[in-house]
Amino acid sequence: MEKLVALCKRRGFIFQSSEIYGGIGGFWDYGPLGVELKRNVKNAWWTDIVRKREDVVGLDCSIIMNPKVWEASGHVVNFNDPLIDCKKCKARFRADKVFMVVAADGENVLLQTGAEADDAEHAKEAAAAGANSKTRRRLEKHGDKLAWTVHRVDELPEGVTAHCPLCSGELTDARKFNMMFKTFVGAMEDSTAEAYLRPETAQGIFANYKNVLDTSRMKMPFGIAQIGKSFRNEINPRNYTFRSREFEQMELEFFCHPDSADEWYVYWRDARFKWYTDLGLTSSRLHLRDHEGRELAHYAKACADVEYDFPFGLAELEGIANRTNFDLTQHQEHSGKDLTYYDDQTKERFIPYVIEPSGGVDRTTLAILCEAYTEDEAPDEHGNPQQRVVMKFAPRLAPVKLAVFPLVKKEGMPEVARKVYDDAQAAGMAVFYDEKGAVGRRYRRQDEAGTPFCVTIDGETMENQTVTVRDRDNLTQQRIAADKVVQYVAERIV
Ligand code: GAP
Repeated sequence: MEKLVALCKRRGFIFQSSEIYGGIGGFWDYGPLGVELKRNVKNAWWTDIVRKREDVVGLDCSIIMNPKVWEASGHVVNFNDPLIDCKKCKARFRADKVFMVVAADGENVLLQTGAEADDAEHAKEAAAAGANSKTRRRLEKHGDKLAWTVHRVDELPEGVTAHCPLCSGELTDARKFNMMFKTFVGAMEDSTAEAYLRPETAQGIFANYKNVLDTSRMKMPFGIAQIGKSFRNEINPRNYTFRSREFEQMELEFFCHPDSADEWYVYWRDARFKWYTDLGLTSSRLHLRDHEGRELAHYAKACADVEYDFPFGLAELEGIANRTNFDLTQHQEHSGKDLTYYDDQTKERFIPYVIEPSGGVDRTTLAILCEAYTEDEAPDEHGNPQQRVVMKFAPRLAPVKLAVFPLVKKEGMPEVARKVYDDAQAAGMAVFYDEKGAVGRRYRRQDEAGTPFCVTIDGETMENQTVTVRDRDNLTQQRIAADKVVQYVAERIV
């Protein structure tokens, strides 16, 4: 992960927000390459979910809505994480992410410590990694004989005390912490002016369900899709952009008759998993996990997660849920507006069920960065193998599609290169022009940016108007007509 984070900063994919002032936890900025990559992820989702479907329309809601929306949705009361503090060092943790780990060989306790991790298995690893070298040696020596007990600190058995993972100090009891960011609307900063930054885009869709239905002539089943910023005051933002306080979601609320909801749930669960494989996450790192009954929210009938095996562990990219008619029923009750649907064919009136595929733009972008990062060897200009870092993005997602190099800055080559560059730009392609340094070094720069095609204008171009096209992944070079470059690349980046 460290190598990827360093590359993302060095090459302008991702920066820490307000870095010149020391940054701010849980907020990230996307640089010139990152913004193109992220936009390509969003465009792929929008194209596949909205533009290519007759039964889905788009929406773009405001971030701040009437606070009653969040009362109806249950967020004001229920959108909580359990929070604990260390009484000694004052560090703050999510109670469900801190574990007490004990390793003992019979009566002999070798390790007893708090550890911060996503699950019990990773807590053991974190506890062992955080131990001093003497304890680590003893743990290794006792190996298979060790008995490990791991408990979440908010579920400790009687008599076991919780230790701070950082300083071993005493921890407070867990208390509820609402993750919605509060703000004030208008000039008065009192409770009547309080509002929230939305923690999900979904509720804006439910609040507009009737507007869309009345204006778009959609018939059940149909979906409303939205991409937009959401905000959560995460207690411990971590794992780079994975858990941020400001992030973007891609959410679809698909409305259907209650009798067809089970079928639509399976349809969307499988379609959404396939979407990620189509984006290039084809490796064995991608998983679809059905939730067990006890994991389901009280209003959900079924739920599955698309998970990716990040370097820091298996974690969720998207959840697909059958939310029943919970949200529309709540909004109907709280707003007093009729949100039922009348089917004029069957003469039936009902509150639709909702299937919700809800994905994260930043998490998908991070998974794509992790998947693309590759170290291999490529020959330099003398044919000698050299280590290279190459971002093997699917061409559809690559931030830059084409780089254009004149071999030398003379003999008319820059002029021809400029013409190829201008043609690509006029076609709306993300294209980069580079005439600085040895051509091998220019290739390396584009490999790190993940540019799938590099075109070089050389002496032969000046004789027969052909250029070389170099393929990022298999390093083959072929000659094609200079005026066919745009078409050649366009055919390969869909
Ligand atoms: N409307 C349902 C909903 O919001 P969620 O599982 O809380 O469900 C959906 O969020 C997706 O939003 C997640 O799968 C994840 O990709 C993204 N997401 C949630 N919290 C996030 C955070 N703190 N940072 C980055 N992405 C986040």
